[in-house]
Amino acid sequence: MSVPDYRPQIPEGTRPAIGILGCGGIAQTAHLPAYEQYGLPVAGVWSRSTTTTAGIRERFPSVGRIYASPEELLEDPAVGIVDLATPAEDRLRWLTAAVRAGKHVLAQKPLTTDLDGLAPILAEADERGVRIAVNQNGRWAPPWRLATLLVEDGAIGDVVGVTHLHDKPLPPIAGTHFDDLEHMLISDYLMHWIDITRCWLGGKRAGSVQAVDSRVPGQPDSAKNPWSASIQFSCTDGAHALLRVVGDVRTRKPSCPFWIHGTEGTIRGSVLGGSDRLELERDDVVTQYSLNGQWFVDGFAGAVGELMNAVAEDRQPYNSAAHNVASLELMIAARKSVMDGSRPHLMSDLQL
Ligand SMILES: NC(=O)c1ccc[n+]([C@@H]2O[C@H](COP(=O)([O-])OP(=O)(O)OC[C@H]3O[C@@H](n4cnc5c(N)ncnc54)[C@H](O)[C@@H]3O)[C@@H](O)[C@H]2O)c1
Repeated sequence: MSVPDYRPQIPEGTRPAIGILGCGGIAQTAHLPAYEQYGLPVAGVWSRSTTTTAGIRERFPSVGRIYASPEELLEDPAVGIVDLATPAEDRLRWLTAAVRAGKHVLAQKPLTTDLDGLAPILAEADERGVRIAVNQNGRWAPPWRLATLLVEDGAIGDVVGVTHLHDKPLPPIAGTHFDDLEHMLISDYLMHWIDITRCWLGGKRAGSVQAVDSRVPGQPDSAKNPWSASIQFSCTDGAHALLRVVGDVRTRKPSCPFWIHGTEGTIRGSVLGGSDRLELERDDVVTQYSLNGQWFVDGFAGAVGELMNAVAEDRQPYNSAAHNVASLELMIAARKSVMDGSRPHLMSDLQL
């Protein structure tokens, strides 16, 4: 069987130029390096503080300009795609502004933490003929992307279960703005794991979601959020998933192993921390794939490349806001469960 092409797909020819609105941590450590590496045009960037963007054109020569205001960015005819890299809290306001400016949008995850108000923006985007994609860049992390393509090809039959273990240290949370988010591991950090699991269970119906989080031994008092979290989903056909963050794991071999068990075979792999690998076991044959690229930063090129292809082909991107809504519903249900003493939250027949 030939290996499906899991690498970022970037359209040939002229690509719409990107304007980054909210050029902070992730934009500078992943978005811009990915755009440089893949030769994607960046019309300019804006951040609330000029200190944040000082020296950015020296570090990233492809950045055309530093905008003085978000309005200047939104009104610039050179900007084809607004790359919204602000935190989630104001996302819908910026999304509305970008859509009304007639721009395609790539919005960071989580697209929103409250679905109220999203539907009218998506309808307005459709009316104006602009596309909204969500920066679920994990979908293009090489092991996860190849696993998705294998699942879609039926390589393991019907998916029975998805399991993820976060066997690596947590990124810095204490003292950052992330620690001000309630149940941050569930509502923000695990969004990529929730989203990829939803992709692998695509076509099924979610039945219930249960989540738990807790403080762990050794966690400093200054850390507001619990450092351990687990989420379980079940589908109406009995398929199920488990996502587990143990805590701030001490290890010299960081990894995020995952398993996708199916009726005909098994996919095993790992992502992040230099652990990338993937294998398919089916009919007593184990196939190991060699992988090129990494989530950081190829995944970020994959997410914007898919939006660019969708614009060129006049279709919805695979990472469209509409496709991401089911992932958001799962995250919101997990957050409700944890706020409700970890009781299972029943979904009303959510189509994945
Ligand atoms: N793998 C990933 O895709 C990944 C990784 C880290 C963070 N993120 C997401 O990216 C987003 C930004 O995170 P970050 O770590 O870069 O944050 P950050 O604070 O480092 O940067 C955010 C930027 O947005 C600006 N900003 C903040 N609030 C704003 C507002 N209300 N209006 C306009 N601008 C505002 C800030 O000035 C800054 O330029 C978050 O949603 C986060 O969850 C994604």
